[in-house]
Amino acid sequence: QSVAVLGAPFSRGQKRRGVEHGPKAIRDAGLVERLSGLDYSVHDFGDLSFHFPEKDEPYMNVQRPRTVGAANKKLCGAVSRVVGAGHTLVMLGGDHSMAIGSVGGHAQQCPDLCLIWVDAHADINTPMTSPSGNLHGQPVAFMLKELQDKMPDIPGFSWTKPFLSSRDLVYIGLRDVDPGEHQILKNLGIQYFTMRDIDRLGIQRVMEVTLDQLLSRKQRPIHLSYDIDAFDPSLAPATGTPVNGGLTYREGIYITEEIHNTGLLSVIDLVEVNPTLGANPEAVESTASLAVDVIASSLGQTREGAHGSIDEIP
Ligand code: ARG
Ligand code: MN
Ligand code: MN
Ligand code: MN
Repeated sequence: QSVAVLGAPFSRGQKRRGVEHGPKAIRDAGLVERLSGLDYSVHDFGDLSFHFPEKDEPYMNVQRPRTVGAANKKLCGAVSRVVGAGHTLVMLGGDHSMAIGSVGGHAQQCPDLCLIWVDAHADINTPMTSPSGNLHGQPVAFMLKELQDKMPDIPGFSWTKPFLSSRDLVYIGLRDVDPGEHQILKNLGIQYFTMRDIDRLGIQRVMEVTLDQLLSRKQRPIHLSYDIDAFDPSLAPATGTPVNGGLTYREGIYITEEIHNTGLLSVIDLVEVNPTLGANPEAVESTASLAVDVIASSLGQTREGAHGSIDEIP
């Protein structure tokens, strides 16, 4: 079993500097060692390097469209190649706009993939509904076939085509959804579990319904897009758009354990770790080490230990 790691050190999908250092922070927290310890052969492909156009005028309200578009085009190609080579992929962000390229590249190889989006935010604004103009609040709108006629032609994005049906997407952890986003979620009948839903149903039931909806018709590859701000800010303080009342450590890890147990996880994005936003070094380290725990548990680290190849008590 081989796992690839690919960094996307990119921050121009939002306005705060520092999230481009997310891949380094997560690697420094011991990612590769942890995955090797799970008996994977780990191929670290390093970080992509992006180059930035000097001039990138806003399009409508959308900030830096050409920059974000070009970076995602590059990421899309890289993800497609790595997945096509047979690796399970860990994509380290970077801001969440990088999901456009990550999920898009994955879909080139696996057209029937489904998407689990773990986040405080729905990231499904269109340029017309976005209150901020930040593209990290819009990636899902680029993916959905049902939103095709709501999406204008944004400079930098002529290479993308929507590839996902809204029934193949489930959100977990929502608690900060913009009015236009709420309307889209309702109009398209998208399945989502807010923090309130998790309070009512429990995370076990949430995962049961999620996986049943996505996998009961047929087994298919899973793309997990995990925004670290899904966690409560007390656990993940080093992130750009923290929202109170987030996932507990145990809820966040239960999600990934259940996804691992399907045997169908194909790509995981871990995004929005911003090491410049921690109040102190401990805050940064705890956020990055939480990111490593999320990735390790989605790839099979368990809380009950593993007996490996030992079949007799020594
Ligand atoms: N909904 C807000 C916006 O559109 C915040 C999005 C935050 N996204 C994120 N990936 N952290 O700007
Ligand atoms: Mn978020
Ligand atoms: Mn997000
Ligand atoms: Mn396993």
